[in-house]
Amino acid sequence: MEPEEGFPACPAAEQLPSWKRLARLAVAPSQPTIAELLTDCSRVRDLQIEAGGLLFDFSKQRASPAVLSALLELAQERQWQARSAALFRGAAVNSSEGRAALHTALRAPPEQQPPAAGGEVIAVLERLKQFAAEVVDGRRAGCSGKAFTQILHIGIGGSELGPRLALEALQSPSSPLRVRFVANLDGHALARALDGLDPETALFILASKSFATLETRLNAESARRWFLERTNRPEALARHFVAVTANLEAALAFGLPPESIFPIQDWVGGRFSLWSPVGLPVALALGGNAFDALLAGAHAMDRHFQDAPAASNAPLLAALIGIWNGNFLGAASQAVLPYDERLRLLPDYLRQLETESNGKRVRRDGAALDIHSAPILWGGVGTTGQHAFHQWLHQGTYGCAVDFILTARASHGLPSHHRWLLANGLSQAQALALGAEHPDPHRTIPGNRPSTTIVLDRLDPARLGALLAFYEHKVFCQGLIWDVNSFDQWGVELGKRLAETLFEQLGGAPAECQDASTRSLIERLGKRRLETPETEAGE
Ligand code: F6P
Repeated sequence: MEPEEGFPACPAAEQLPSWKRLARLAVAPSQPTIAELLTDCSRVRDLQIEAGGLLFDFSKQRASPAVLSALLELAQERQWQARSAALFRGAAVNSSEGRAALHTALRAPPEQQPPAAGGEVIAVLERLKQFAAEVVDGRRAGCSGKAFTQILHIGIGGSELGPRLALEALQSPSSPLRVRFVANLDGHALARALDGLDPETALFILASKSFATLETRLNAESARRWFLERTNRPEALARHFVAVTANLEAALAFGLPPESIFPIQDWVGGRFSLWSPVGLPVALALGGNAFDALLAGAHAMDRHFQDAPAASNAPLLAALIGIWNGNFLGAASQAVLPYDERLRLLPDYLRQLETESNGKRVRRDGAALDIHSAPILWGGVGTTGQHAFHQWLHQGTYGCAVDFILTARASHGLPSHHRWLLANGLSQAQALALGAEHPDPHRTIPGNRPSTTIVLDRLDPARLGALLAFYEHKVFCQGLIWDVNSFDQWGVELGKRLAETLFEQLGGAPAECQDASTRSLIERLGKRRLETPETEAGE
């Protein structure tokens, strides 16, 4: 792995001439509105980009040609090309942990594997697909010889959100192999996931890069106890449980043999791990070919990101426009609104990707950041959201940037539903952009609110892969402009540590060391908890 110096040094964004130009443009009284910008016929041609089988329409953004040119200059000044080359070749871009972030290698074909990936990617992928095929055709069956029909995937964060999204998006409701997911350590989640599960036909996947995450450890231990109590066959554990992890020792200590463990490389970050064996549920439920197609779609987007010039590079433009909206126009959040029920989990997935990556307050060298980093990402499916929060989008006082995601072809055989769905998606983007005058101010829609529309001709594994890789590269580009490390997440550690002590105190250990508020809450919760007898999940 290359040292961090693989990243060339350059001045902070806000010291660059392009940033200063953008700041001036943001307050210039003569900035054209979106409606005015759309009267230029060349705008749509220039700002609609085809990449990875998707269409990205940036033309409804409040970004004039002058703004776009300053943004492209900003990318140039922050050396986006040299930095993305460093990412792809495996330099230690995760500087606070001294690691590469080589998730792109997981979806690169054999001949394009970077040497830094270590040469095992393809073999692990083949093993994974082989395992999935054996489960599906019954060659690998449960301890009583019955085929596996249910899968319980135990994992959290990046070890859950990706495969869960992919199955929600791509699996047909009538498909025979069902996957349940459990992430939260709330016993209600595990109890529900275990409810009705048949231990003879259930396969458990324990997905945890670290194999040390409290939630997954606890759920895995309770699931193992549940399984052993029902089968009374400890030797069957190796058939019914598999692990996906970088911590081989911990998985062995859990009781799994090496052949039931799928390795994740150290350089795969949790939120970038769908492409690794964390994607096992995809190969199981949709088949090895679908998993290959997901990877190929993501790789197509990788190629686009590496090869397309800046002005027609979809992830780079999305990143720059996001920075314009957030840092200059005051958009406090980014909404992702899929007009496709199958993509209802996309906002959850992207929220981890964007906020865990770029929700940072210091630069890569540890100096305080003087500018905002990532805004919160949220969202919901159209048209449900139209009857919930779109009022806020159209007339609220906070700025918000919106991504609309539309799928041209549906798979439900209800064509008028789909036409209405698309009409609504387009109408929302149009209403945001153009607004409408009305003599009554309550009824005035101000418009001039920016959005990007992303079109998928249809939802399939390749297009989903391309869409997710698009957002990954957007996040990377924003991180390199803000100069934050997009690949660590130290902010989540403190709460985990504090919980260790609080766990003891909720069980009766002295809590004098706590602040007054927490102490009083421990007393209240501890007392009420002990009033009700508990049973373990599955008991
Ligand atoms: O929330 C912190 C985090 O480390 C995420 O980055 C990660 O996706 C998740 O926990 C799960 O981690 P692991 O796969 O090690 O269990």
